[in-house]
Amino acid sequence: MIIIPGPASRKLGEEIAGALSVDAHPVEHRFFPDGESYIKYTTSVEGETAVIVQTTSPPQDTHLMQLFLMVSTAKDLGAERVICVVPYLAYARQDERFLDGEAFSLDIVINMLEKAGADDLIIFDAHNVDSLRRMQKRHRIRMENLSATPLLAEYLKERGFRGAYSLSPDEGSVHRAEMGGEVLGGGFGFFEKQRDLRTGEIEMTVKDVEISGRDAVVFDDIISSGGTMAQAIAGLKKQGARRIAAACTHALFMGDAEKRIREAGADLIVATDTVETEFSQVSVASLISERLKEIAK
Ligand code: R5P
Repeated sequence: MIIIPGPASRKLGEEIAGALSVDAHPVEHRFFPDGESYIKYTTSVEGETAVIVQTTSPPQDTHLMQLFLMVSTAKDLGAERVICVVPYLAYARQDERFLDGEAFSLDIVINMLEKAGADDLIIFDAHNVDSLRRMQKRHRIRMENLSATPLLAEYLKERGFRGAYSLSPDEGSVHRAEMGGEVLGGGFGFFEKQRDLRTGEIEMTVKDVEISGRDAVVFDDIISSGGTMAQAIAGLKKQGARRIAAACTHALFMGDAEKRIREAGADLIVATDTVETEFSQVSVASLISERLKEIAK
């Protein structure tokens, strides 16, 4: 098994290799003057299982293109199996054709990876687990969705959030709150949303649970604009929560997301290194390396 960190996940790729006690072989990469990516393998992958580690956070299209170049080249150079570890998979939120005429983006991205020669795809905290199951039925590539929520909860437990109430922004993602709750031990639930008829703003409220004076953690797959997390935290504040943590797997933090979340009242923000940011306090490297040991013996 050869670990090949891509340009977008060099640090994570090296940590995975370290956890497996093997050398990492990052591809050589540079940009041409017009912005196109140049990719060159620095070791032979012939007859090998090539594990390509490349996240696809912004700039998504550039990182995706680099991924396609790496996968296709690995197969072309004779790799027997290509495992793509894409910690954050871009376009995963467009997991259906919601409106007539829309691009079914997730399906297209997976199709392109498959066509490039990928045999396996490992991602983290898919936006919608059911849609990934549906994807699996449409494609040959073997897909796995790992969750970083237990790791985030462990981190928070060590920082005084043992016994905190775990929440997801909505009922559809309550499985995340449940996973967090199993580690923190303070129960779990989800927010209900309603529109304030006076201001027209969305309010998020926890029903049937006494939040006042308690610590709480909101677990989400992704923080992008920060709007969802800020509303959730504002709701908890209004209900009298004591300390509040915002936890997500993929920290995109576009624009003033951090400011919105802090101003809403978050005491702590934590994320993983599926996207490397200043909030990446939790590494998914060990989880990936353990999984690779199982599937790529
Ligand atoms: C929504 O379904 C997702 O789970 C996230 O809550 C959402 O994508 C976060 O986006 P934003 O930070 O822009 O509110």
